Amino acid sequence: MFYDTVSNAHGLAHDPFKAIVAPRQIGWIGTKGRDGSLNLSPYSFFNAVSDRPKIVMFSSSGRKDTLRNATETGVFSVNYVSADLVAAMNASSIAVPYGTDEFALAGLTPVMGRLVEAPFVGEAYAVLECRVTEIHTLKTIDGTDSDSHAVFGQVVAIHLDERVIRDGRFDVALARPVTRLGYMDYAEVQPVFELLRPKPPIGGDQP
Ligand SMILES: Cc1cc2nc3c(=O)[nH]c(=O)nc-3n(C[C@H](O)[C@H](O)[C@H](O)COP(=O)(O)O)c2cc1C
Repeated sequence: MFYDTVSNAHGLAHDPFKAIVAPRQIGWIGTKGRDGSLNLSPYSFFNAVSDRPKIVMFSSSGRKDTLRNATETGVFSVNYVSADLVAAMNASSIAVPYGTDEFALAGLTPVMGRLVEAPFVGEAYAVLECRVTEIHTLKTIDGTDSDSHAVFGQVVAIHLDERVIRDGRFDVALARPVTRLGYMDYAEVQPVFELLRPKPPIGGDQP
């Protein structure tokens, strides 16, 4: 089958786009409001987009509270969604009035960042402390602004739980990350396998 995304005439019960671009890691974003309120919400339009410098990005469909806080304070945390925290992650996605503390709603322990004034999930196996570098309202091909807003942040500090470090590596088999698929589907990352990159020809460079 084929369809263009203007007509979006896929004829299926649900738009398959998010099922195709999957799995997506879930950026579980912690922020603090200017009023001191704490906020925690999952964003699966999320990824690392560079490692030198370490930059992550999440995108808000509409102007949500996380976007507001990140814009106002310039900082956020990213919290690792493991299988044992997936119910709490889901609970934190509830639509509630600005200022409602989703850490409390989800039964999680908020801990303030060491380098940034953003709360993180005390129970998470890994946490990234981030400073906002750019915020873009995404444009469409005709140049008009959409109502999707991408927030980029540089990772300035990382917390790692010793329980998921094995043989000097952050061990995915122990951390059991949960990823977002399409529809209401999620997946755990398993099995993990290793694949070595091909060697470049003599004198060639590995990008
Ligand atoms: C797994 C998951 C992934 C989500 N990903 C996004 C996303 O990428 N962008 C978005 O705008 N909303 C996303 N949502 C919905 C938000 O989490 C939800 O609207 C939340 O209430 C926003 O909270 P906030 O207003 O406190 O930021 C997602 C929800 C779930 C459960």
